Amino acid sequence: MKNKNVIDLEALTPEQLERICSLAEEIKRAPEKYRHSCDGKILATLFYEPSTRTQMSFQTAMLRLGGRTIGFDDPMNSSVAKGENLKDTITIVSGYADIIAMRHPSEGSATAATLCSSVPIINGGDGGHLHPTQTLTDVITLNAEKGRLHDLTIGLCGDLLNGRTVHSLIKTMANYKNNKFVLISTKALSIPGYVRSILERKHCEYKEVSSLKEAIAELDVLYMTRIQQERFASEQEYMDQKGIFVLDCEKLALAKKDMVILHPLPRVDEIDVKVDNDPRACYFKQAVYGMYGRMALIYLLLNDRDFAFDCYKPQLSDSKCKNPKCIVQSESYLPYNCKYDSDGHLVCNYCDHIIE
Ligand code: NCD
Repeated sequence: MKNKNVIDLEALTPEQLERICSLAEEIKRAPEKYRHSCDGKILATLFYEPSTRTQMSFQTAMLRLGGRTIGFDDPMNSSVAKGENLKDTITIVSGYADIIAMRHPSEGSATAATLCSSVPIINGGDGGHLHPTQTLTDVITLNAEKGRLHDLTIGLCGDLLNGRTVHSLIKTMANYKNNKFVLISTKALSIPGYVRSILERKHCEYKEVSSLKEAIAELDVLYMTRIQQERFASEQEYMDQKGIFVLDCEKLALAKKDMVILHPLPRVDEIDVKVDNDPRACYFKQAVYGMYGRMALIYLLLNDRDFAFDCYKPQLSDSKCKNPKCIVQSESYLPYNCKYDSDGHLVCNYCDHIIE
């Protein structure tokens, strides 16, 4: 079974990922060649959660390809405010647009949307789960700035539990040889179990540490993230985690001269603004690479019939996913849907949480 939904970059073959990256570079070099490549096509951006970069870079990407955009950035300005469910919104919008980019607070929402969409769905972030087009951005930036995607010691720092960009990036970078991961967080915000099992299954070297200062010297890449305030159950739990990891010039003095600093942004207080002037700070460039990556992705999805991905045939299950943040909890009509991972665990096909 094949489809054109971009839920998790794992569905892409290494060749497909490479094709997007090289097309992104080509579009960056010669944008005029692509100016009319999506004439007459419409992208819908359905953002149920706040966004600056992801939504606007999808929109500018489509506009720069000659297409047009519709959508909402506040669901309260749509019929969602009247109680419309995800199924009905997606069914309707897929009749209006040729492609949909969406962001939603529930884990697994993008997969749920694919069940009723007649056009490709691109996951622009589903709760704390995944964010594949941010990873595309990160991969294109690393390729350009480090010249390789393998043999890298990659530090990821901050909210590794709730940071969807972290989960997507680890899943992708674990596929390249000799990458090592240094996971820098408090115990409470360490990576979810399913991401740890991916690292173990792929025999990746990784360690979990609690000091950025001690870890920084060995890193080729430092991926800073914000503490995801909106995913905490209480203000107090957020306050307990806030401000623990801050990259400042003093710590940066201990790092390699060619270390690359990435951040998906928005930044809160985890990178001192003085670091912005350091040549190793690549996070603003990263956002620009992201726009070219999204142009390449939209171009291929709409113009190349064979640019499609293998997908699981959903298996209906009698067991409901117990993850309280999974989309099945709020959209009660959804069929329980599961798959076996390569360790033989039955996992939820929406949010990847282990069912049994
Ligand atoms: C991230 C996100 O929304 O997950 N931002 C982004 O898309 N560039 C990171 C974040 O919100 O911390």
